[in-house]
Amino acid sequence: LALTLGPVLSVHAADAPLVLGFSQVGAESEWRTANTASIKDAAKQAGITLKFADAQQKQENQVKAIRSFIAQKVDVIAFSPVVESGWDTVLREAKNAKIPVILTDRAVNVTDPSLYVTFIGSDFVEEGRKAGRWVLDWAKKTVPQGEVNIVELQGTVGSAPAIDRKKGFEEIIKADPRIKIVRSQSGDFTRAKGKEVMEAFLKAKDKKIHLLYAHNDDMAIGAIQAIEEAGLKPVKDIAIVSIDGVRGAFEAMVAGKLNVTIECNPLLGPQLMQLAKDVKAGKTLPKRITTEEGVFTADVAAQELPKRKY
Ligand code: AHR
Repeated sequence: LALTLGPVLSVHAADAPLVLGFSQVGAESEWRTANTASIKDAAKQAGITLKFADAQQKQENQVKAIRSFIAQKVDVIAFSPVVESGWDTVLREAKNAKIPVILTDRAVNVTDPSLYVTFIGSDFVEEGRKAGRWVLDWAKKTVPQGEVNIVELQGTVGSAPAIDRKKGFEEIIKADPRIKIVRSQSGDFTRAKGKEVMEAFLKAKDKKIHLLYAHNDDMAIGAIQAIEEAGLKPVKDIAIVSIDGVRGAFEAMVAGKLNVTIECNPLLGPQLMQLAKDVKAGKTLPKRITTEEGVFTADVAAQELPKRKY
């Protein structure tokens, strides 16, 4: 029996589908929903067995999920880290178990970069810069004199996109000393929180608000509701710049309620599956893979909307 079972088992192991454990941030935004769908669809297409865990925007849930993937001896672990710091211990556990880790979408801040194999996702600092460049140009044309007051809706506190989008934006707007961020608070990347924080910004009434910079489209869409409920007109009374390029943002632009969205591509699934296969096959991967993205203004929104894939 041992003689016949031996070869049969080894043939099966070689043919067995690759098992990928994926820990997702949550379901906080339209972007995230598209990202999850892309990962699930791509796993099916690639014949990869996906073990998917939703962390509901909590780091402790992601740590638990990663530990469970290690215990289940998955072939590869991938995750989109909710915040940047605090990953060294669990990633070392994965490394000790010889399970390669791929970061998708968001970066981590670790002392030892060998704790992950590769990181695929957007350049969030550059997205912030793109938003800043649009604002510089807009301020020159629209507010030729005097102060330009911006309110900022930040993403989840401690997350890579919140840190980097703020950094890139500030780096650019400092070229015009009239432009100031007069209020800045986290809206946790959700519509509900974006609306709530914008309501508070509007209630303060101590400074005229010229422009809203939202770190994602969902918070901008929530804020649009707050602006309208306060009897003001988005775009006309308060210009709005946000990031992601989801369908909801294009619809808002077509309706004349949003000025511009900076694209952040969530369709990472197919590339992630290829990377998982490559790493399992022992290929050397680049440490950083950056996605290509554009900027869409309201004047092109109607023409672009039917082409949007998310
Ligand atoms: O990490 C990407 C960001 O996370 C997206 O901009 C945002 O919508 C999402 O929640």
